[in-house]
Amino acid sequence: MVEALQGAGVVVTGAGGGIGAALARRFAAEGARVVVNDLDAERAGAVADEIGGIAVPGDASGIVEAARDALGGTVDVYCANAGVASGGSEAAGESVWALAWDVNVMAHVRAAEALLPDWLERGGGRFVSTVSAAGLLTMIGAAPYSVTKHGAYAFAEWLSLTYRHRGVKVHAICPQGVRTDMLAATGSAGDLVLQPTAIEPEDVADALFRGIEEDRFLILPHPEVAGYYQARAATPDRWLSNMNHIQQKWEAGQ
Ligand SMILES: NC(=O)c1ccc[n+]([C@@H]2O[C@H](COP(=O)([O-])OP(=O)(O)OC[C@H]3O[C@@H](n4cnc5c(N)ncnc54)[C@H](O)[C@@H]3O)[C@@H](O)[C@H]2O)c1
Repeated sequence: MVEALQGAGVVVTGAGGGIGAALARRFAAEGARVVVNDLDAERAGAVADEIGGIAVPGDASGIVEAARDALGGTVDVYCANAGVASGGSEAAGESVWALAWDVNVMAHVRAAEALLPDWLERGGGRFVSTVSAAGLLTMIGAAPYSVTKHGAYAFAEWLSLTYRHRGVKVHAICPQGVRTDMLAATGSAGDLVLQPTAIEPEDVADALFRGIEEDRFLILPHPEVAGYYQARAATPDRWLSNMNHIQQKWEAGQ
């Protein structure tokens, strides 16, 4: 148990299923009061009912005020978890790129803007960003997803280095495959690179809670990602050649 979470006001976006629902369940089990957000009101309501939380459905981009009201005035922990798995190339189309930026990056920026004044005044607050290993590496066949997850990671990193001396804690969760609806919809690229090592949403929640206890920014539910991230930084051309081999294998199987 993380003592500070007893009675804390927690918001989880995109919590109608998958990783978000697992995070919401885990925070509730730790004694937190949990706001369950999702675009899908029915699914948000079902998870809220199950865990004794409060459903605040809608677009994750603009829910901080409603969540704060629902929690009686204070948000202690905000999990920016809602995301879209926008696949495709440079030619994915303007609307696909715009949605990926809006949900995967700007929703985090807007939430932080709404949360920070109160957190800085109180000298505390916790921002949890569900990024992806694609934010540290790159996902085959998914340019908008890879680019915007790099953006989400950069924003989490910026928040952490800017406000850590003022009591704000930030965690960036960077899993590879997790068995959710999103993974099931990722198609042949997901089957090739994510399915073989996929974990359960509950494993992601466990990894976050270990990271909270150890006061760690980077949460790697797949520990091997640390080695890939090092290889990418140390030997970029070798890493790109290895990734290109996977790309060619994927193309051959299409
Ligand atoms: N599943 C994976 O393999 C995997 C791996 C790494 C990172 N992630 C990230 O984890 C997060 C959760 O994904 P998941 O796998 O649980 O997917 P999921 O599809 O099971 O759940 C995502 C939820 O977010 C909701 N949502 C989408 N846009 C929203 C918006 N604008 N406002 C509010 N809710 C919205 C959806 O309705 C859905 O219920 C995402 O940010 C995703 O990129 C997933």
